[in-house]
Amino acid sequence: MVSKVIAHDLRANPHLVMGLATGRTMERVYRWLVRSHREKKLDFSLCTTFNLDEYVGLPAEDRNSYRYYMNHHLFHKVNIDLRNTYLPDGMAADLEAECRRYEELIHRFNGIDLQLLGIGRDGHIGFNEPLSALRSRTRVKALMPTTLAQNAEFFGGPDRVPRRAITMGVGTVLEARRCLLLATGIQKAEIVARAVEGPITSMISATSLQLHPRCTVIVDEAAASRLSGTDYYRWVFDNEPEWQDYR
Ligand code: GLP
Repeated sequence: MVSKVIAHDLRANPHLVMGLATGRTMERVYRWLVRSHREKKLDFSLCTTFNLDEYVGLPAEDRNSYRYYMNHHLFHKVNIDLRNTYLPDGMAADLEAECRRYEELIHRFNGIDLQLLGIGRDGHIGFNEPLSALRSRTRVKALMPTTLAQNAEFFGGPDRVPRRAITMGVGTVLEARRCLLLATGIQKAEIVARAVEGPITSMISATSLQLHPRCTVIVDEAAASRLSGTDYYRWVFDNEPEWQDYR
């Protein structure tokens, strides 16, 4: 479903500016995009991508850096021009200047058309940890212990996960013209319900998406299991013309 939306938007506008996310949830999306490229000639040659975030202190060659992740899961497997793929540089000597540069770059490309988002167990989008200002811009964030624990398996223990990351701000994300939030699995059910149906709070960055005029949340049955309005959401999906190509 997510991949279908991306493929549809990319076919409609080959110069699409995409905001990309990392994490286990996105691996399936990228696998599907790679397959669409190989089997249906989905063309990435003219698009530009901006990733949400990158760890501070990890070089591109580090297997745990998000640059490595993106090259491995998507960029090296499709016909994208690597020069059109942007991530914050977590190795920059001046991190604040790097954050400003990243924001300016997004502006220079006239903003992000389609922003992909996952959700952390604490409700973060990108690495916007609890209490991230709803109008925050790209900046360095210290990671929460829950986030370190969530990503510990890749690093061989929570103590080895970098403590800080550069992330687009909540305000940066909200400026994207369209947002897609994707969540799968029972371990996301509680936070999805709070993000979608709970009150807007900077304690859960994903609740800020309720302020976005065009955000779609895509979940599997497990991740949807704590939502209270499921019957209504199903009806909308099954009946509204906007979704007919995706049913
Ligand atoms: C990391 C990323 C987030 C992502 C989250 C969820 O923290 N910075 O952008 O949404 O992981 O990851 P997963 O899909 O592995 O649950």
